[in-house]
Amino acid sequence: MCPDQMFSVKDVSILAVDDETEVRNLYDTILTEEGYRVTTASCGEEAVERIKQEKFNLLLLDLKMPGMSGTDVLKAVPDRLEGTSVIIVTAYPSLESSIEAIKSGVCDYVIKPFSPKELRNIVRMVAEKAKLIEENKKKERELAVATAAAEAQKLKARELEDANEKLRETQNMLIQAEKMRALGQLASGVAHEVRNPLAIIILGINYLEEKLPKKKGRNPINDTLKIIKDSVKRADKIIRMLYDFSRVTELDLKKEDINSVINTSLALVKNKLKLEKNIKVSKEIKIGLPKVLVDKNKIEQVFVNALLNAVQAMPNGGQIIIRSYDKLLTEPGNGAGNRKNDNFKVGETALIVEIEDTGIGISRENMSKIFDPFFTTKGPQKGIGLGLSVSKNIIDLHRGFIYAESEEGKGTKIIIKLKIAKEGGANG
Ligand SMILES: Nc1ncnc2c1ncn2[C@@H]1O[C@H](COP(=O)(O)OP(=O)(O)OP(=O)(O)O)[C@@H](O)[C@H]1O
Ligand SMILES: [Mg+2]
Repeated sequence: MCPDQMFSVKDVSILAVDDETEVRNLYDTILTEEGYRVTTASCGEEAVERIKQEKFNLLLLDLKMPGMSGTDVLKAVPDRLEGTSVIIVTAYPSLESSIEAIKSGVCDYVIKPFSPKELRNIVRMVAEKAKLIEENKKKERELAVATAAAEAQKLKARELEDANEKLRETQNMLIQAEKMRALGQLASGVAHEVRNPLAIIILGINYLEEKLPKKKGRNPINDTLKIIKDSVKRADKIIRMLYDFSRVTELDLKKEDINSVINTSLALVKNKLKLEKNIKVSKEIKIGLPKVLVDKNKIEQVFVNALLNAVQAMPNGGQIIIRSYDKLLTEPGNGAGNRKNDNFKVGETALIVEIEDTGIGISRENMSKIFDPFFTTKGPQKGIGLGLSVSKNIIDLHRGFIYAESEEGKGTKIIIKLKIAKEGGANG
């Protein structure tokens, strides 16, 4: 837009200051004729008073006046002159006064004597410039407001996205909890209905075994009874596991020393390990670790599951190492990140337990499935495929993280990340 179109003289208020009455009258006549709103002052003091009362767009200021000079006026009310364009009017512009005036933000000079045309031109030029600057500032302000609004919008969008993600997660958790509840009901019903007859079958088999004449060596009847007994035990195990699997919805949290949980878990599998003569178990335990807030029995279940898997992965023997240590999480990944719903924050210290074996390892293809319920590679007689999925449920409930690292033919490491208990608290 061209300045002429934007510029309206009616909008421009001018204070003209001069101690000579003729000059003041000249200003008044010429500039009022042009359409400006003109106020006059006959000395510096009067000018200051007027400036205090009213904000002017333009100040026509005589530099040399008795009493307060033009520069004194500029110095007296600098705040009130913010945004006011100043035209200095002087007969003898000295270098010093010019410099001082420029420092005070003066826009232009007019040297006495001047013609009406000169006055009109300079006032118009300065007023137009002022208007342009004002328009610019207004645009800058509008831009700043628009930028701030856009930023706020972006922030809101991010907040909404976060809330949405949280909602989705809660929804998934609810669906999962509902599925578990239904499965739990089914499992406890089945457990009740089926375990009693299974117990009766076992009792019957025991009775038959007792009554059969003891013969040295193998015989088909004893073999058959053993097969029946193993199958019944397996059916019982499936029911128990299913029941356990669906029941993991509540925790009995206490502050525990993780190393003592590791020791109890090892004690629980001691007998099994004794049978496996070629398996060596060693501990690499860090002493004095901070406590963890956990359900001891459930975490034991996780360690026992992993230890049994390790044993089963080493049919020809090998080594199991169980490790505990604390670690500052410096990078995102494996449960750590910077988002609200990450279980661990980058910069947080976590407690870590590793169960490592030198067994058959897990194929790349199977790595993504091992935590799925009922995924097993052990065949129907040996595995149910619930060990790791129960473990994952337990660790998820603790807001921890469980994952595996493995190389086929070399071995597997199950890594469990737990949250360190806060100092003090009810369970301290
Ligand atoms: N230490 C390990 N070494 C090799 N493979 C493993 C190991 N741990 C788990 N796996 C693989 O993950 C699968 C799932 O393990 P998970 O413990 O859930 O079930 P499972 O051991 O097959 O049966 P169960 O329900 O009796 O535990 C296993 O069948 C096996 O293929
Ligand atoms: Mg298992």
